[in-house]
Amino acid sequence: MAYDATFHKSTRTLEDEGPPFVYTPENRARFITRADVEDVVSYYTMFYTRPVGKFVVNVCRTLSCALNGAERVTEELCGKLGIKPGETDASGTFTLMEVECLGACDRAPAVMVNDSWHECLTPDGASKLMEDLRARGEAALSGCHHVIETAGRPGGSGGSRG
Ligand code: FES
Repeated sequence: MAYDATFHKSTRTLEDEGPPFVYTPENRARFITRADVEDVVSYYTMFYTRPVGKFVVNVCRTLSCALNGAERVTEELCGKLGIKPGETDASGTFTLMEVECLGACDRAPAVMVNDSWHECLTPDGASKLMEDLRARGEAALSGCHHVIETAGRPGGSGGSRG
């Protein structure tokens, strides 16, 4: 496949806006064409077509995660946050999304909150994560949770990687 400078330029421009990028009719004229932007925005999960909350909670719904309980995680989050997938809560704090594979299939179910992966998540763990985010904000985002790697280490409790 040949290098597509047009595509690359549109991607770079969106990245330069910084997350969360919101594509609106007012700023679309700055880009190449509406179709170019729609291509990029509809493909990448980190771009949005409407405002999102401070924390975007992306629950993977692809096979490994689906087989390991992602649907129950989503149901728990819907109840906890009072919203459905694709919605933002009234306070503008949380947006809940269902997304395709996050690349953490061996640690399913995987949930990505902004840029932070939380893996092997149970419904209770997802609920606690939302409580932590409300209480501590971004400090609750500890990145990947490598339960398997840390479980056997001295001081490792199966929690987060430091
Ligand atoms: S299937 Fe969920 S991370 Fe790959």
